[in-house]
Order: sequence, then structure tokens, then C-alpha cells
Amino acid sequence: MNIAILASGGGSNFESVVRATRSGKLSSDVVLCLSDRDSAGALVRAKAHQVPTAVVRPQRGSSGDFGNRLLAELEGAGADFIVLAGYLKMIPQEVIAAYRNRMVNIHPSLLPAFGGKGMYGRNVHVAALAHGVKVSGATVHLVDTEYDTGPIVAQRCVAVLSDDTAESLAARVLEVEHSLYPETIRLFEEGRVQVHGRTVRILEATPTEDPN
Ligand code: GRF
Repeated sequence: MNIAILASGGGSNFESVVRATRSGKLSSDVVLCLSDRDSAGALVRAKAHQVPTAVVRPQRGSSGDFGNRLLAELEGAGADFIVLAGYLKMIPQEVIAAYRNRMVNIHPSLLPAFGGKGMYGRNVHVAALAHGVKVSGATVHLVDTEYDTGPIVAQRCVAVLSDDTAESLAARVLEVEHSLYPETIRLFEEGRVQVHGRTVRILEATPTEDPN
């Protein structure tokens, strides 16, 4: 697949996906790192890895135009799969339609808990700790028109410890994200992801042929 990664922040998930493509864990290429802000750390990482970059800023009151400008960048780069990695803008309808079931997001909680508008970054872990959950984790889901509501493709748990702070829990979840995201993208490469309404079924891996 030709992957475009959209990121607004530091870009550690961007890095983990690029590294997986470079090490052969993924067969895809990352063809674009796109951000809504010039200061995104992900853009610095992209340049270090020679991944093409683009910045598309939303403009107030012209969401249609934002969608078209995003689409032009994505299609211009030849992207056929979109990976959201800490991208904080709502994805416009026309982009969702163009990449239906080919756009994923990663969220640092076990959705549907602690998702939705305002639930990003530290807020997620503060809310999880305030609720007293004993496990948290990461969720990879398909992207639909709301924040964090699309069909769930994969989840992985981490324990919440009695002395956890939002920072220590965030670090433990992020570490899991860095393996979960490439592994989940691999399922799409292998054509093993089947979407039935809200439910995603992961097909069994095809056994590799015995050379003997
Ligand atoms: C991650 O926690 C991810 O779950 C969320 O945004 C954060 C991005 O971190 N969607 P990074 O920029 O990839 O380091």
C-alpha cells in the first residue's frame, strides 16, 4: 500500500510505522507525512527519513475547500491508505468518502471509553485515572464522521498501576501503540480486514507454502 500519515504532534507513531516499512515488517511505503501545523514534530521526523511532507491548514468557514485541498495532496502523493497518528483535525466528509475503510486512527484508550471530542493527549489518561479503571490500552479503528466512533479493528490492554500518573500511563500506552499500529496495518496489507457494519472481522492468515 502507499500510506499517507497525518499527524499534528510529536510523531512517535509516525516513526514506528515508517520504521516498520523500512525494516520489512510492513511491505507498504509511506509516501506522505501531512500535517495541519508547521511546528509538528512529525514533519521533522519525516524529513529525517526522506518522507515527502505537506502542510494543509484548515481555514475558518471553508471546510469544503479544506477537504479538497487535503484530497489533492493525498491523491497527488498516490496515497491509497491513510494512517492518522495524533492528527487533531476532524477529517472532512469528502476525504472519508474517498478513503472509506482505508483510513485508520489510533486512540490511547480502550474505546468506547474515554473517546470523543476533547479526549486527546493527556486528557484521556486523566479521565481514565479519575474513573478508576484497572486496565487501559490502545484502540485502532476505522475513521468515520465523528471523533473515535468508527468500527474497532484492534485493541491492546495495559494494566493501570496504583501509583500511575497521567504521564506514566500515557508512556505505557504509547509503547503498546508503537507495536499495535504496524501490526494492525499489516492486517490491511494482507487483505485480512472485513468490515460488517460496526463489526470488523479479522480473517485467518493464509498459511505460507512449504517450499519442500
Ligand atoms: C497517541 O497517543 C495517539 O494514540 C493519539 O495521539 C498520540 C500521538 O502521539 N491519537 P505521537 O505524536 O504519535 O507521538
